[in-house]
Formats: sequence, C-alpha cells, structure tokens
Amino acid sequence: MVAGNWKLHGSLQLIDRFAAALLGNAAVETLLLPPALYLAAMRERGLDAKLGVQNVHAAQTGAHTGEIAAEMAVELGASHALVGHSERRRDCLETNAAVAAKFHAARRAALAPILCVGETLDERRAGEENDVVRAQLEAVFEAGAPTADDVIAYEPVWAIGTGETATPAQAQAMHGFIRDVLRGTPARIIYGGSVHPGNAAALFAEQDVDGGLVGGASLDPAQFNSIIEAAAEANQQKHADA
Ligand code: PGA
Repeated sequence: MVAGNWKLHGSLQLIDRFAAALLGNAAVETLLLPPALYLAAMRERGLDAKLGVQNVHAAQTGAHTGEIAAEMAVELGASHALVGHSERRRDCLETNAAVAAKFHAARRAALAPILCVGETLDERRAGEENDVVRAQLEAVFEAGAPTADDVIAYEPVWAIGTGETATPAQAQAMHGFIRDVLRGTPARIIYGGSVHPGNAAALFAEQDVDGGLVGGASLDPAQFNSIIEAAAEANQQKHADA
C-alpha cells in the first residue's frame, strides 16, 4: 500500500494535476488522504486511487462542532481513515484512549483504519521506542486483534517532515517488533517519515515493510508515481523470493 497524506495542503488545482498525472498500479493499493472537504471533488475527478480521511470523530452524530464522522466520510467515497497521526496526538492532545475510540468508530462505519504509531526523538534516545509503540498498539487492540483490513503505520516522529528517515534496518526492526506484539497479524504495516523516491525502494524491500505513508512527496504527482512504482517492484521481488 502507498498512501499519500496531504495534511493541510491541497486545492482544486492540485486535484486536477493529480487527475491528469496519477498512474495507478494494479499491484499496489494506492490511497490519497486529502483534507476531507475535497473528497467529493476528488471522487468526481475519478482519480486512480482510493480515498481516505485524516481523522474521524468517535461519535456518529452529536454536538461536536467542526468534527466529521466516519459514516460521513464513507458517504463521500472514503474507504480508509488515518487515526492517531502524531501531529494530532501533539496538536489536539489525542491520547491512546482517544485514538482507540476513533479506530473503533472507523470500523463501525466499515472504514478501514490506518493506525499511526511511533516514538519521539527523546523516547528513542531513552531507549523507550518499543515500550511507547507497544502501549499505542495495546490501547487499540486490547478489545480484539487486528484484521487483514486494518493497517498500522509506523511513523517515527523524528522522521516526519524532517527530511530524516529511519534506516531500512531501523524500520524493519520496529515493523518486526509490531508484528510480534500483534502475534503475526495479517494487518499490513507501512512506514512513514520522509519517504521519497530516493529511499522508497530500500525501505519497501524490507521483509515487514508493506508500503508507505507519504506526506510531503505525496503532493507531487511525479514523486508519488515513482514511490508507487518502487512499491510495485518491491512487491514483485518479495513474491519472487517467496
Ligand atoms: P512526511 O510525512 O513524508 O512529510 O515526513 C509523513 C506523515 O506524516 O504521514
């Protein structure tokens, strides 16, 4: 899977550029996560990608000004929802418990959740990265194991938007740890944090890296296409090796 998280970026003009240039690949599940306001416009343009939202509220309806429900996202054509992105954990003070509620709200609406986990630089320096990620996973999955529809995105906070990327070995170590904590889950585990055309192939070649969650490089169709290509090649290689 290659998912593009547009964050607070995008415009109708960018959507038109993507409609003209995005090259899907049948071997790679491709997803774009624009600001939710743009879902309808993206669906109308018939982009060669699934659509998702960057956040949902835990409730289906209610007095929650400014929020969107998972059911609304489904109605507008979304198939996936990010939950627990580190920027929301930081800016909106989302706790592990709040993230778990959003995760289950997505499932309630049959929106496949993409759960973001990852440690800060201070936590890594203190050698706490595994404990932090384990706690983030356990808060969500104590109610039940992940399914094949769920996606986990490992995004070390120190690598997001910084130009600094986890090495393929660091990514593999954490993805392997996540798979162990989740007892060999069928959920895909994708990596995020400064993925770009120059490092995607090496990251995706790792055994437990099942794709990428891409921020900055997902705003440029040519860069995003080449990351999708890298995923397709890694996928083919892994099947050949199996
Ligand atoms: P980045 O963002 O690729 O710009 O580092 C990744 C993310 O936050 O999902």
